[in-house]
Amino acid sequence: MDHFAYSTVGGNAVLSCERLPAEEVARLVGTPCYVYSKATLTEHFTKLAEAFKALDPLICFSIKSCGNLSICRLLGELGAGMDVVSGGELYRAMAAGVPASRCVYAGVGKTDEEIAQALDAGLYLFNVESEEEFENIARIAKAKNVVCKTALRVNPDVDPRTHRYTSTGKKETKFGVDIERAKEFFRRYGRDSHCKLVGIHLHIGSPIYTTDPYVESVRKATTLMDELAAEGFTVSTLDLGGGFGADYETDQTPTLSTYADAIVPLLAARVKAGLRIILEPGRTLVANAGVLLTRVLYMKRSGDKTFAICDAGMNDLLRPSHYHAFHFIWPAETPLAFRPDRRAKEMQVPGLISVDVVGPICESGDFLALDRPLPPVKRGDLLAIFTAGAYGMAMASRYNAQPLPAEALVDGSKLTVIRARERYEDLVAHERSPIALATG
Ligand SMILES: Cc1ncc(COP(=O)(O)O)c(C=O)c1O
Repeated sequence: MDHFAYSTVGGNAVLSCERLPAEEVARLVGTPCYVYSKATLTEHFTKLAEAFKALDPLICFSIKSCGNLSICRLLGELGAGMDVVSGGELYRAMAAGVPASRCVYAGVGKTDEEIAQALDAGLYLFNVESEEEFENIARIAKAKNVVCKTALRVNPDVDPRTHRYTSTGKKETKFGVDIERAKEFFRRYGRDSHCKLVGIHLHIGSPIYTTDPYVESVRKATTLMDELAAEGFTVSTLDLGGGFGADYETDQTPTLSTYADAIVPLLAARVKAGLRIILEPGRTLVANAGVLLTRVLYMKRSGDKTFAICDAGMNDLLRPSHYHAFHFIWPAETPLAFRPDRRAKEMQVPGLISVDVVGPICESGDFLALDRPLPPVKRGDLLAIFTAGAYGMAMASRYNAQPLPAEALVDGSKLTVIRARERYEDLVAHERSPIALATG
């Protein structure tokens, strides 16, 4: 699980991150703030590596889920590479000390500049998403007289049974090349001398709460690899993408060993014969290694509803309003009678009230939870929004001119601010000196 737990202090249940009370973190860092637990992050990475040990994979952390340099550096030091989807993410990975030679680069819209940057940096692998993109990478590599490696992202037309917005392995999505076109793709491009086509890439969506979509897509990929081998093409790399579930306290999430138990037997023999496996986990590593701490600014009643208006909103954590995602929310300190059971989505304790937890943003879509049973909360209370480490800060915006929140890392009882809270000056920094350009 994670290292955010409630313990009894006097008559209260008090939340700590590792050995630091959440209230103390909030007092020192301010709110809203993302707080990450180093022990949780380390444990998740180690468990994943252990579960897939038989495949000896290169674990490329999907930096889009949480790009903070200190988080990436920590994972890099544990041996992770990075999965990037932009020049900015490659820059982040390298700034965190992860060499480009451990990075894979997916994404449907790589620009010429981004491709050149990745080639110059010595990228490990491009995951190519279309014929035109392959031709463009090959052209740029040839012009630079360098050789690079690519994998074809195939779209296996497998339903990951997840939210429509994060479903990427079905035919109607913009990602990858239909698996039926893959052989033709290899026939056309598989012998390019600058852009070596060495692999197959899959990423069918996220989060995926059952193992069947992985089994189905790996089977389709291995069948394709055999057919390609029969035509003389060697596929030496299989990138399985990401999408393993994170524990959003929903009791639906398979453990990492459950995913591994389903996937490893399909690939172990091929790995022994020399196949290189890549994994691109994001949320399964960082989601419940992070919580978002927010203060209740005001309590308010409107019609039949009770609102807890907080200093964090959709600008800080977009997932509830964008995906209708569930995040467990609870006061950081609460009477023992309300000690939370994070597994029980709807706690049945007398005295709970139904609350919409909302932010300060001027949109009715600005909510963190709707009709949520909570202990009675009041102005000034600190709330913890759990499992917020992935696609939390990474999707935060400055909407309504709200400065981006701070990020902090806890290691035992040590607290480090790993991203300073933005100031108002930061909001206008790039607008201070308009630049007139020569036209016509
Ligand atoms: C290509 C690719 N790989 C990996 C991931 C990571 O997914 P997750 O964070 O669910 O593991 C994503 C997420 O969108 C992705 O697009």
